Amino acid sequence: MKIDPWSSTTYQDYTRLRDEFGIQEFSDDLWKDLPHPHRLLRRGVVFGHRGFEMIHEAIQRKKPWAILTGLMPSGRMHLGHKMVIDEVMYYQSLGADIFIAVADIEAYATRGFTLEETKELAINEYIANYIALGLKPEHCHIYFQSRHQDVKDLVFLLGKKVNWSQMVATYGFEGSTNMTHIFSPLVQTGDILHVQLEKFGGVRPTLVPVGVDQDPHIRLSRDIAQAHRLYNITVTKDNKIGVFVKVDEHVKELLDAAEKILRTLQFFDLKRITDYKAIYINTAEEADIPRIDEALAHIEPALGGYGFLQPSSTYHRFITGLTGEKMSSSKPESAIFLTDTPEEAKKKIMNTKTGGAVTLEEQKKFGGRPDECMIYELFLYHLIEDDTDLKEIYDSCKKGKLMCGLCKKRAAEQMEKLLIDLEEKRKTAAGKMQEYLK
Ligand code: TRP
Ligand code: SF4
Repeated sequence: MKIDPWSSTTYQDYTRLRDEFGIQEFSDDLWKDLPHPHRLLRRGVVFGHRGFEMIHEAIQRKKPWAILTGLMPSGRMHLGHKMVIDEVMYYQSLGADIFIAVADIEAYATRGFTLEETKELAINEYIANYIALGLKPEHCHIYFQSRHQDVKDLVFLLGKKVNWSQMVATYGFEGSTNMTHIFSPLVQTGDILHVQLEKFGGVRPTLVPVGVDQDPHIRLSRDIAQAHRLYNITVTKDNKIGVFVKVDEHVKELLDAAEKILRTLQFFDLKRITDYKAIYINTAEEADIPRIDEALAHIEPALGGYGFLQPSSTYHRFITGLTGEKMSSSKPESAIFLTDTPEEAKKKIMNTKTGGAVTLEEQKKFGGRPDECMIYELFLYHLIEDDTDLKEIYDSCKKGKLMCGLCKKRAAEQMEKLLIDLEEKRKTAAGKMQEYLK
């Protein structure tokens, strides 16, 4: 199986996907003790991660960290897109630096848009709604890939450590794939890693919250980050922890610098073998590796490297479209757009197929199926904040006490409220836009 980030596949079996690609389960211990955990975390919508432990630790210890995510400006913004920004705003409230890439190069390469068209969509559909939804301008940068010189420069340099076989194996590119498309995953890697450049805040944990279709880009970014490191810290064959210099220049200086860091970390029993470009740490354990790795990453920029920490990621489930397939801007009847009028949204909701039984009698007798109901999903993902209220709907649906007509009406009313509020707030968004694009 391959994940194709540019297809419109829906993924049914998230557990299988997780296991097949080595994505970790987003277990309770990763979010339960965070401040006021977000509903998408509490309710299992975020189901997987890579390296989130590092983010968890940064939050708990109040260390600096960053979020980078991207938007594809190739259509109208719908509820599925809202999820990412809901997550971003939550993490913003916990103190993360926020970076958002407008993937205009990718949209140009893969969706046939001009850069001008993508600009228009990015501003009026996405950024305006982000502001209306409550994204704050402090420590928040939104930029266009095509206009970010530092990202573009970085992309060229990062590409050195990726070869064609790897790109074909990851993305299934063929001889007919256009070069800008081939290049676009590297641009995304540039997006993800540039936030760790000195100029943008320096080496620090970075979280990329995405849908699971983006995992190939995450894997690539993590590989590239690792490939550009000057040091490698591993468990050796005879079960020791070793720090190895990966480059051939300035080996002595690099070993000296590493030794100094190891001593500040209270490791004194060191065996240095310059010929192997290695330092073995006799008193370290495997559990010490992340700590050592992070400390060494921080000194790499001064030694001619980047020191990129591998970016962390979380993966959310996709919200089902109103038609039962994936919610997609190319199928307007499947999606509720944030710029839909309240009436349009209401109509779409009232026409949605539910998890209810065929007749009222049957539903009263056997109950409905909220787990297969798009209306319930709207509540779960977007419309109901209080977990008790949500459970109340779930239970009374299952028991046959709640009927779909009433339930839909409630969803429609709440959606109308949300959309009216957004419409109102979008009016002032244009005037604030520059604060985010600075
Ligand atoms: N490829 C993403 C999409 O299809 C957009 C994107 C560009 C992105 N750069 C990113 C996502 C960096 C996450 C991180 O929607
Ligand atoms: Fe869905 Fe509500 Fe009907 Fe239950 S009662 S099936 S949650 S619409």
